[in-house]
Amino acid sequence: MSSAEQIKSCCAAAYSSDAVALLLGDSYHPGGAILTRKLATLLELSPGQRVADIASGPGATARLLATEFAVTVEGVDIAAPVVPRAQEAAARMGLTAEVRFHVGDSEALPFPDNTFDAVVTECAYCTFPDKVGAATEFTRVLQPGGRLGLADVTIADTGLPDELTTISAWVVCIADARPLTRYIDILTDAGLHVTHTESHDEALARMIDQIEARLNLARMAFPQVLTEAGIDADAALGYIDIARRAVIDGLIGFALVVAHNP
Ligand SMILES: C[S@@+](CC[C@H](N)C(=O)[O-])C[C@H]1O[C@@H](n2cnc3c(N)ncnc32)[C@H](O)[C@@H]1O
Repeated sequence: MSSAEQIKSCCAAAYSSDAVALLLGDSYHPGGAILTRKLATLLELSPGQRVADIASGPGATARLLATEFAVTVEGVDIAAPVVPRAQEAAARMGLTAEVRFHVGDSEALPFPDNTFDAVVTECAYCTFPDKVGAATEFTRVLQPGGRLGLADVTIADTGLPDELTTISAWVVCIADARPLTRYIDILTDAGLHVTHTESHDEALARMIDQIEARLNLARMAFPQVLTEAGIDADAALGYIDIARRAVIDGLIGFALVVAHNP
């Protein structure tokens, strides 16, 4: 198995697990609905537009965009078990016509060229092994004049401490994150024009605190869920401390990026 396949398979397994749902809640990115709303507003979404949510996870973003911005959304995620769960959650909200989910890989999107008014991808691009390939796919499926909204973990130019470069760190969105300037370069090389960026490092710090609180609760109330997912709570809490220190030291952060397809 190539390392790229191994990483994708680890991501798919991790994000399908009950433990991740327990630790992250409904939204698997820093800032939750607040930053999704902010990104959607920056994208100037208008009613009836078509949006792709790449790496849509549990589907909270797709549901929010459909209900609050009156767009239709096609979600794609590599973790096959999360796709029917996301579809069922949308159906419970009466959104079967507006929101659909597909199993797929960000590096080979299951859509024709020039399909979408906007593409969003939140806290996932950092995990894609072929970032250039994924950016090329975003450009391909966007209509001319379409917009990309990317929300992701960023790192300092100086790189990361060794503890944050493991495969587990890759899956939790840290090890293969890039400096903001590098994301801009990759998107520009893929033919997009970056028009806006903003930092939200505080949202990452809050998410780390939230995961720590949920982990402490889970180890008391649902230890079997952690065991089934192969999570050692003590090791995870140590890892959380390292990640928190990295945010405080400015080594990792979180940013929104908006780009236009000319
Ligand atoms: C941190 S979660 C974010 C989920 C969602 N965007 C959100 O913010 O709630 C990362 C997601 O990326 C998905 N993913 C990872 N690699 C992928 C790939 N190559 N193609 C599509 N989805 C992928 C995972 O299965 C997971 O659902």
